[in-house]
Amino acid sequence: MKHVLMAYYSHAGHTARIARTIQQAIVEEGHVCDMMEMMECVREGVDWSRYNIVIVGSPIVYGVYNKVVWEFVEKFRAELDALPNSFFNVTVVARTPLKATPEGNRYLQAFIKRSPWKPRDLKCFAGKVDYPHWTWYQRLMIQLIMRITDGPTDPSVIVDYTDYEDVKDYARHCLLLDKFQRRR
Ligand SMILES: Cc1cc2nc3c(=O)[nH]c(=O)nc-3n(C[C@H](O)[C@H](O)[C@H](O)COP(=O)(O)O)c2cc1C
Repeated sequence: MKHVLMAYYSHAGHTARIARTIQQAIVEEGHVCDMMEMMECVREGVDWSRYNIVIVGSPIVYGVYNKVVWEFVEKFRAELDALPNSFFNVTVVARTPLKATPEGNRYLQAFIKRSPWKPRDLKCFAGKVDYPHWTWYQRLMIQLIMRITDGPTDPSVIVDYTDYEDVKDYARHCLLLDKFQRRR
């Protein structure tokens, strides 16, 4: 039985939902998966000896990763590197096929460039547009991105672009990481 750590940051709950889908898929395969928010990891610490595999996930908000994501990767660089690992990001731009690939998603490329931890497996998920629940300023910012990238701008729109079958496939793929990546 494998023990997986699913460490995540979520600004508005959608990445948490993706992380929970990953957790459920792993549990359905007969393994254990603990979900931890990155803030908890940074403040309370992590018992890394419990885990065989680690998955890290974060959304992009206003073009950047939250400060806690950088604190997490800086603090736990060695521990992350010591385990078979994968990193995913969640963006609305990934609703188009090119930007759903690690090579075509500039936010993922920015992560690889800046992060002291270099993940050995990468994934991009499309996130959620939720205009009615966002503040006027948040709505305006995403409407700008959508105008540029030909997406919905109607302020009443809620669209969940995440492909949950793909999320489950990714979870099962992560369970095999210890076969392809050596523990360091
Ligand atoms: C305030 C705000 C800013 C965002 N900025 C970006 C962005 O710059 N680029 C992008 O592709 N998606 C952006 N998004 C879309 C989010 O990545 C998407 O809604 C994701 O599902 C949010 O996940 P969360 O609920 O876990 O925070 C933004 C969303 C919000 C609410």
